[in-house]
Amino acid sequence: MECINQMISEMNLPEGDRQLIQDRMARHAGRLREIYFHLYANQDETHEYFTDLLRLILQSWIDREPYLKEKDEQVVRFPNWFYSNNLVGGVCYVDLFAETLNGIEERIPYFQELGINYVHLMPFFKVSQGDNDGGYAVSSYREVDERLGTMDDLRRMSRQFHENRIALVADFVFNHTSDEHDWARQAKLGNPKYTDFYYIFDDRAVPDMYEKALREIFPTERPGSFTYKKEIDKWVWTTFHSYQWDLNYANPKVFNAMVGEMLFLANCGIDVLRLDAVAFIWKEMGTPCENLPEAHMIIQAFNLACRIAAPALYFKSEAIVHPDEVIKYIDPAECQLSYNPLLMALLWTCLASKEIRLLRLSMEKRFAIPEGTSWVNYLRCHDDIGWTFSDEDAEQLNIHGFFHRKWLNEFYSGEFPGSFAKGMLFQENKKTGDARISGQAASLAGLEKALEEKDDHKIDLSIKRILMMYTIIMTIGGIPLIYLGDEVGTINQYQFLDDPHKASDSRWMHRPAADWKKIQKRQNQETTEGKIFSGFQAIIRIRKEHLVFGGNKMKVMDVGNDHIFAYLRENCGYFCWCFSNFDQEAHTISPPPFGNSGSNVQVDDLLTGKSYSPGNDMLMEPYQTLLLAWK
Ligand code: GLC
Repeated sequence: MECINQMISEMNLPEGDRQLIQDRMARHAGRLREIYFHLYANQDETHEYFTDLLRLILQSWIDREPYLKEKDEQVVRFPNWFYSNNLVGGVCYVDLFAETLNGIEERIPYFQELGINYVHLMPFFKVSQGDNDGGYAVSSYREVDERLGTMDDLRRMSRQFHENRIALVADFVFNHTSDEHDWARQAKLGNPKYTDFYYIFDDRAVPDMYEKALREIFPTERPGSFTYKKEIDKWVWTTFHSYQWDLNYANPKVFNAMVGEMLFLANCGIDVLRLDAVAFIWKEMGTPCENLPEAHMIIQAFNLACRIAAPALYFKSEAIVHPDEVIKYIDPAECQLSYNPLLMALLWTCLASKEIRLLRLSMEKRFAIPEGTSWVNYLRCHDDIGWTFSDEDAEQLNIHGFFHRKWLNEFYSGEFPGSFAKGMLFQENKKTGDARISGQAASLAGLEKALEEKDDHKIDLSIKRILMMYTIIMTIGGIPLIYLGDEVGTINQYQFLDDPHKASDSRWMHRPAADWKKIQKRQNQETTEGKIFSGFQAIIRIRKEHLVFGGNKMKVMDVGNDHIFAYLRENCGYFCWCFSNFDQEAHTISPPPFGNSGSNVQVDDLLTGKSYSPGNDMLMEPYQTLLLAWK
C-alpha cells in the first residue's frame, strides 16, 4: 500500500481524485496482488511486474474521459443496472449490418424502433485480409479495421450510444491474437520477449504430450490444437484456427499487456466486454486445458483492474461448455453477465422433440445464479449450436445424451423425416461422432422450408415457433439478446459456399448481410417480415411495461403436461405465470392459482388480453405463449 500511495502522490492529482483512487486501491489492490502473486509466484521479477501493472491501471484511470468517470460513479451506485426490464439486447456484425461504424450510428433509430438498448457489435478491430474467423483473429486491439472506420468513429459512436442510453458491448478476444498482430510478428522474428507471449515449440514432442488430454475445437478444418509454421519451422499452440495464436498467460508480461488493451477499450466507452473463449486461457500439461482454476483467477484479476480504473466496465462470459462449468464464471467478482447456452440449446432441443422435460429439469436445477449477476438469454448468435446440456440431467429422464444429440443433428440438418428445419452440420468429428448445427433461427424453426413449399399454414406455424421461443427469451429472467435479422425472419444464405475463405465453415450460412429491402417490409403487416417484426415489438413492449420481467427470479413449474413449459416470474412484488406450448397440437391445462387470494381471481394474458381464472381449464394453441400477470 505504501508504494501505491507514493505512486498516487507522484501523480499530482486534485484532492478529490486522489481520495477516490486511494479508496478504490485500498478496496481492490490487495486481492489483485494476492491473485497476481499466486499466478506468477515463480517469476523473479514478479514484484516489479506488479508495480508496472498498478502504474498502468492508474494511468488508464487518469486518461479516462470525464463522462466515463461519471458513468463509473453511476455504476458503483447502481451496480445491478442489468436487472432492468427495460433492457433488451441486439447483436450484429458491423460490416454485415451497416457497413461501417458510422453506418451503425445511423441505425440508432432502427434500434429504437425495435426497442433495443444493449448493442453488441462483433469484432471491429484490425484483422488480416482474407480468413480472420469473422474478426475473431485480432491484429490490433487499438485500431479499428479500416474498412469499418477509425478509432475516432468508434469514440464518436460510443458517445452517441451513451447519449441515447444504449449500452455498447464489444468483444475482448483475449485467448489469442492473429498471427499478424505485432507481438506475433515479433515472435516470428525470434524476439525472445515475444516468443514468450505465445506457446511455441521446436518439434512435436511437447505438443504431443499436451494433445493427449485436449479436445479438438475445429476438427474438420484444423485437426489438433497446434499448427506447424513453416516460415519459422516451429509448432504454435492454436486452439482455434491456425492463424489464431494462443496467448501465454503464464507470462505476467502477457497479463499486463492485455490489461492495458482491456482498459484502452474501456476508455473508448465500451460498457460490457464479451470475454471470448474464456475457458481456454490457462494451460496445464495433463489436463484438457479448459476451465482451469487459473483461468478464473485471470478473469478475477482483470475484473479487479476494472473496479479500480473503469468500474463501469462489466464482463460477459462466453463459456460454451458443460453447464457445471458455465456457472463457475458467473460471479460479481468475475463475470457479472454470462451467455445462457443451456437455455439456448434446450429451447431448440424441445422444439424438435415437442416435449419439455429436459428443459424443465435443467432450468429447475441450473437457472439460479448469484445476486449481482445476470444471464444473457439468446436463441441464436453468429456461432453454431452446441448441444451442451448435461448428460447426467438427461439420464435422469432416461434420455441418452449421445443419441439425443445425434438425433438433434439429424433433425436440424433436415435429414430426419418430417423435420421442419433447414440447417447444416458444423465440425462433424468422425472420430467421436460429435457435431454441432449451423443455421438461422427462422430456417431452423421451419420458415425456409415453408416458404419453399409456399405453404401458408406451415409459414404460420414457423412464425409462431420463432415468436414463442423469443417470448421465453424476453420473459424468463436476464437480458434478452436478439441476433439481428431474426426480428424479420432472416433465413439461411448459401453464397458462402462459393467463397474459398468461408466454404468450410458452415457458420457463414447464418451470417448474411442485412437485407434492408427485406427489413423495409416490416412496415407491412401482410408480409412475413411484418408479422414477425410486430410480434417482436409487442413482446418487447410488454417486457418494458411490466416490472415483473426485470431481475432473474424464476421458478419452474410442472403443470402435469410435458409439452407445456411453465415458470413463475417474480419481481418487485409483481408476479407472472408464463406458459409455452412446444407442441404442434393444442393442449388443455388447469392453471395454477394466481397469488394467495383464492381461486376466483381473474387475470389477463398480456399478449392477447384474454382473461383466465384458476379452476377453469385453459386451452393452449400450438406454440402459444400465455403471460398471466398480477400483483
Ligand atoms: C468464440 C467466437 C467464435 C470464434 C472463437 C475463436 O467462440 O464466438 O466465433 O470462432 O471464439 O475466437
